[in-house]
Amino acid sequence: MDVQRKLQILPTPRTARPGDVGRRQSRKDPDVVNSSSAAPSARPFVPDSVSLRTLRDASLGCTGCDLYRHATQTVFGAGTRRATLMLVGEQPGDEEDTRGAPFVGPAGRVLEEALEAAGVPRGELYVTNAVKHFKHEERGKWRIHKKPDAAEVRACRPWLEAEIRAVRPRVILCLGATAAQSLLGPQARVGTEAQPVASPWAAATLVTYHPSAVLRARDSASRTQMRTRLVHDLALARDLATRS
Ligand code: URA
Ligand code: SF4
Repeated sequence: MDVQRKLQILPTPRTARPGDVGRRQSRKDPDVVNSSSAAPSARPFVPDSVSLRTLRDASLGCTGCDLYRHATQTVFGAGTRRATLMLVGEQPGDEEDTRGAPFVGPAGRVLEEALEAAGVPRGELYVTNAVKHFKHEERGKWRIHKKPDAAEVRACRPWLEAEIRAVRPRVILCLGATAAQSLLGPQARVGTEAQPVASPWAAATLVTYHPSAVLRARDSASRTQMRTRLVHDLALARDLATRS
């Protein structure tokens, strides 16, 4: 289907400002933490660069919100800067936190299988998360994933914006509601089907299930349904991203 015809024009949400992409850091930027009462933000740590290596290196020192305190390391995105399709998850999990790479744990395996079923080579993609540090709760010897709150997602968004600025993907596929809300605003949901929308970030932005939702499905019928949808949406996103 024609990309342009499929697109709905989305009203610019309060949390997604068009000027954020490509804009230079400014001393007057309201997001800059310049007093103890300012909102947490990665902004002061993000270099004005479109080099993924420079951005990644700088992200390792980010203390823009409290999440770095209990995590092992920043988990920056991975993949090619030539990607026309970018996948955005929620935040690193336990295994990602120890290994320092996105989607390398159980959710990563679900994603890997779905990509294979959709015929999408991972090497073509750039894969990242809305939040770059692992938020969790200690329970005995386990570290249980905790959903990042809206302030943490907002704090970390300058890294995601910088990655988008560096890669300039044609299509962004949000895996789950956290990524969707970071980029499309608080009303964004997974919805009953992936509806490509024009956003300040890419020609088409779509939302699908998070691979962890497939893992947590309440029964095998819903697991199959979610997996099928994920595979379908990966193929659709890739199709939109590769046509001229
Ligand atoms: N879940 C995510 O959202 N991202 C990861 O990198 C791993 C699990
Ligand atoms: Fe910085 Fe994001 Fe980590 Fe918070 S979660 S410290 S904003 S990289």
